[in-house]
Amino acid sequence: PAAVIVAIDGPSGTGKSSTSKAVAAALGLSYLDTGAQYRAITWWMLGNGVDVDDPAAVATAAAKPVIVSGTDPAAPTITVDGVDASGPIRTQEVTAGVSAVSAVPEVRTIITELQRSIAASAEKGIVVEGRDIGTTVLPDADLKIFLTASPEARAARRSGELKGVDAATTREALIKRDTADSNRKASPLAKAADAVEVDTTELTLPQVIECVVTLVEEKR
Ligand code: C5P
Repeated sequence: PAAVIVAIDGPSGTGKSSTSKAVAAALGLSYLDTGAQYRAITWWMLGNGVDVDDPAAVATAAAKPVIVSGTDPAAPTITVDGVDASGPIRTQEVTAGVSAVSAVPEVRTIITELQRSIAASAEKGIVVEGRDIGTTVLPDADLKIFLTASPEARAARRSGELKGVDAATTREALIKRDTADSNRKASPLAKAADAVEVDTTELTLPQVIECVVTLVEEKR
């Protein structure tokens, strides 16, 4: 079959990453975590003295770090200037700064180009997860999924991942980030008009994976 391009968008805590990786693995497709790319550029800014709350400073530095994403769903990797960043991009400091960095248009232009070139070179096709993949990055994707879940379910899932952080704090940080991501000017988090919305609140992860795999198979 021809290369199939799948865009999976939605707010955090909806099971986007787990679902995207599993769907790619099940169908033999490549996988790209675009949130990891925005986290990587944020990590570089924080480590190189760039004030992430200063959009002009972020814009000036945006092209400096070289970000490389591995696309194997069984072992996704990300490096910044050749250094493995997969651990450090998950810290609370990066999570707190990423929405400000990703709102800067110069950052989005660079990262979007990178994402399009990775998708274009995936021979068997690719599952790309993020916030604006269906609307902006890959508007011609063969299948667009928009994952949602109640705020309670999303916070509970994130608390399960982040040990030692209480549920209320997690819920607040998550809502703050989603509000920023949804309300920014440059390519906000949004459901594409032609996306299939899947509410995962009452579904288990295997059920969500099965649902998306079936939708992809219908497109092939
Ligand atoms: O998916 P994850 O939570 O790791 O994404 C981290 C952040 O990266 C998001 O909160 C958002 O600010 C940014 N992002 C984005 N566009 C994407 C993917 C992520 O702006 N396509």
